[in-house]
Order: sequence, then structure tokens, then C-alpha cells
Amino acid sequence: MTSKASFIAGLPKAELHLHIEGTLEPALVRQLASRNKIPIPDAISSLTSTSSGYTFNDLTSFLAVYYPNMAVLLTSTDFFDMAYAYLTKAHSQNVIHAEIFFDPQAHTSRGVPFSTVISGLRQAIIKAERELGMSASLIMCFLRDMSPEFAMATLTEALPYKDYIIGVGLDSDERQNPPAKFAAVFARARQEGWLVTCHCDIDQQDSIKHIRQVLNEIQVDRIDHGTNIVEDASLVELVKEKRIGLTCCPVSNSVVTKDFKGEEILQLLRAGVKVTVNSDDPAYFRGYMNENLMKTMDETDITREEIVQLQRNAFEVAWISERKRERFLGLLDSHAK
Ligand code: ADE
Ligand code: ZN
Repeated sequence: MTSKASFIAGLPKAELHLHIEGTLEPALVRQLASRNKIPIPDAISSLTSTSSGYTFNDLTSFLAVYYPNMAVLLTSTDFFDMAYAYLTKAHSQNVIHAEIFFDPQAHTSRGVPFSTVISGLRQAIIKAERELGMSASLIMCFLRDMSPEFAMATLTEALPYKDYIIGVGLDSDERQNPPAKFAAVFARARQEGWLVTCHCDIDQQDSIKHIRQVLNEIQVDRIDHGTNIVEDASLVELVKEKRIGLTCCPVSNSVVTKDFKGEEILQLLRAGVKVTVNSDDPAYFRGYMNENLMKTMDETDITREEIVQLQRNAFEVAWISERKRERFLGLLDSHAK
């Protein structure tokens, strides 16, 4: 291992932007299809006949592969296996805390009960806490290309499992699906005591407008992606003042936008914004935490101290108790000495 790679590998890390369905590696898709006696999804069966792998050029073309692959997830054991595989991988990269997105509507709309999804994910987290000493929690995302009524019904369905879910988010296709469409859903989520984050994907048609909506109308605690704030100094100031974390995903950016936004990430970090680096959908974009940090280090002039600052930001904006935060920051400080 190079000294850069071992520096990154050794850092205690938090991952705050990770779609659990985005961790479905092709081998696991095949295994689950075989176990459930269903056909291997097209995107996976065509993968073997080409050497180039998945081809995406934007968020829409990525989602067109991402959702059909989920057909292999049917039982709570399937959800458990997917989540535990991710947690084991993250643990091997020294991720000590993970906040994991899941998309219940992508499963309930296929007839898989909410209880099946959450029980498998929850069991994996319990096992990772016990056997790997990891800390992890769940963030329930609403699919923005579906109706606000369906989102509200999903919120209601989740209430019996409230204690298993730390907060709610908004993901899927942003085109023509502004955050304001879900204002009532997020207001209700807040009333229920959930923390709130929303995707503001990179270089969308209405990126700035959507970022203003999540800050002013939805009143988010974090923003997923959101680096387009560099275009507007007043937004940078607002995000800084409110200490809103941005969960950036360089490898994912490089696939869906052809620009990994390293300069923007660095500019915001240096301006004092609570920027973090994460992996998004690592099986699809082929980069877990270490690979995302490595890309940032290889392709920008970021210093080692700034890489440590990215991790400090992650622990600072993580949705954890103050006691845990102190402990994790202490681990990071003793490693960084
Ligand atoms: N769902 C999974 N990954 C996503 C992303 N990067 N943006 C929006 N929705 C997603
Ligand atoms: Zn995402």
C-alpha cells in the first residue's frame, strides 16, 4: 500500500451518504436471483457479455438500472444479507459509523412489505454493532418521482418503527420534482421528531432553486450533494452559518456528471462549509469510502490535514449522541496526531 493509501485506510471514518440498494454488487444480485428463483435482471446478465460494465451518463440512466436490479430483494434475509455485506465492507475500510439510506417505496411498490425491508436492515445493524463494533443507523428516503401522497402514506407506515429510523431524506430523479412538492411530508416528519436531509443532485436544471427550497421551506439539517451552492455566495454563507453538512460523493459525481467536482468540494471545505466525502452507490459507481477519498487526494491539491477535516466534519454533522460524537472525534484526533 502506498503511504497515501495507508493514511486513508487508517483514518476512522463516518459515511453519511450511502444508499443501501446502491451496494448491490453484481455477484450478490446473481446470488439473490438464484436463491429466489427469479431471472437475473437484464443489466446484470448483459454485464458478463461486455467488459465495459455499466454505462451511465446521468442520474436518469443510472436509476434505469438501479431500480430493476432491486427485483431480487424479496425476503428480510435478502435485505439483511445486502446490508451486512455493506457493513462488513465498510468496517474493513475503518468506517466506524454509517448512516444508511433506504428506499422503502422501491420495495412496497413491488409488493414487498415495509416490515420485511426494515426488519432485515435492522437485524444487520444489530449484528454489525455486536460483532464488528460498528455504529449504524437508518435514514428513510422518499422517492421524489412518486406522489407526495405515497410519501405521506409511507411515513405513516413507518411510524411503528420510528425508533429504528434516525431521519428522513429525498432521493431519485430530481428533474421536475422540486423539494417543495414534499413540504407537507417533511413538516410531518419533523413533528414526529425525525431529522431531515434532501438530495440536491449535481448540476440539475433548477439546482439553485431547489437548494433554496430545502434551506428555507423544508429546513433541512443536511444536504446530500449540494455543491452547486458555490455558484451563489449567499447560499455558501447561509449553509456555513447554519452549520449544514454537505454529503458529497466524488466518484458518483464523476459518473453521473463527468466531473467529480473536486475543485468545488475543496473550495467549500476551505471556505469553512461542513463538507463530507461519501460513496453514494458504491456497487454501481465502483468506489467505497477509501476510493472516494483517494480520488479526492489524487486529483486535487487537498492536504492530509484537510482530509482529516473532512472526517471531522462528518463526525460533527452526524446524527449521533454528543457522547458518541466526542468518542469518535477523540479516535480521529488520536489517529491524526
Ligand atoms: N438514489 C440512489 N442514488 C441516488 C443519487 N445519487 N441521487 C438521487 N437518487 C439516488
Ligand atoms: Zn445519493
